[in-house]
Amino acid sequence: MASVTYEAVTLVYPNAKAPTVNNFDLEVADGEFLVLVGPSGCGKSTTLRMLAGLEDVTAGRILIGDTDVTTAPPKERDIAMVFQNYALYPHMSVRENMGFALKIAGMPKDQIDKQVETMAKRLDLLPYLDRKPKALSGGQRQRVAMGRAIVRKPKVFLMDEPLSNLDAKLRVQTRTEIAALQRELGVTTLYVTHDQTEALTMGDRIAVLNGGILQQAGSPRELYDAPQNVFVAGFIGSPAMNLLECTKDEDHIAHYGDARIPIPAVSETEVTVGFRPESIELVSDSEPNTIPIKLDFVEELGSDSYLYGHITGTPEDSTQVVVRTLPNSAPAPGSVFHVRINPDEHHVFATATGERLPV
Ligand SMILES: Nc1ncnc2c1ncn2[C@@H]1O[C@H](COP(=O)(O)OP(=O)(O)OP(=O)(O)O)[C@@H](O)[C@H]1O
Ligand SMILES: [Mg+2]
Repeated sequence: MASVTYEAVTLVYPNAKAPTVNNFDLEVADGEFLVLVGPSGCGKSTTLRMLAGLEDVTAGRILIGDTDVTTAPPKERDIAMVFQNYALYPHMSVRENMGFALKIAGMPKDQIDKQVETMAKRLDLLPYLDRKPKALSGGQRQRVAMGRAIVRKPKVFLMDEPLSNLDAKLRVQTRTEIAALQRELGVTTLYVTHDQTEALTMGDRIAVLNGGILQQAGSPRELYDAPQNVFVAGFIGSPAMNLLECTKDEDHIAHYGDARIPIPAVSETEVTVGFRPESIELVSDSEPNTIPIKLDFVEELGSDSYLYGHITGTPEDSTQVVVRTLPNSAPAPGSVFHVRINPDEHHVFATATGERLPV
């Protein structure tokens, strides 16, 4: 087992105009579970592939433990990968699939059996060891692919959206299993996902990438409570944080349409004020300094309601806002209701730079 260090890593694909990964600095501690997120095409898979030795780095260094592996061939890196489209060998049984890498490595058969059976037990695959992949469910196949990758006890485990082709219920179950297995084995893991819940629940830390540039790395709580810029604010959390490009007056009230939002003293005039859907209370329309919202539609989720609408006094195409309330408490669509952001639950960014302002 080992830590992973990216030092100012840049990758420019041949013929590409801009770097796909740009000056990427990140240290993943020994045994840590790091989740990598970002929009499609931002360079997540490329970041993993460089670590595995499947892409040549243009500049910078990659270390596994204290060893510089920047130019080392893949097989010297002791890394296991599971991809979204993992392929099991269809003609081999589960046992043969899982033991394949060990067989190639020349391990004696009884030792392979022992190691495969230990992993199969851990992944609830013991009853299926002699079946072929086609006789397994999607979730079982996925666990075989995991088991096959991890059975040889790699230094680093890379997973690129491994759950994306499972149905919702299996995803939840498998997500919990992967997280537990990773903690038990303590293998340093880099995990790519598009799924907000996976990102927030599985990782020790999350790294957010956009356009090949690392935006922020921190614990799920840090990213949720104190996003460093507007991009991270809008990316982490579902439904996304409401972000309003406001103008601030001398009394430190931020204005957006008819909304009046008191904010702490900052020197900037053009500020983007953010608040999460749950960071509000409903208030009566006679209260000062509220956010008046004309309701467009309601999503009743059983446990909560999400109210979607537009702030009054803004153009038709202005930002849609969403707030969370108790179930069945929604006013009638078309009516106007007023909310206020809970104390200390607003986020303030400089509109010019997108950076979080210290408040
Ligand atoms: N071999 C290649 N040659 C040139 N460009 C490439 C190559 N592989 C990937 N790219 C480009 O690099 C960018 C990053 O790709 P990458 O696969 O890392 O994105 P990603 O973040 O994993 O996206 P997704 O979420 O869709 O999987 C994309 O714009 C992609 O088109
Ligand atoms: Mg990808």
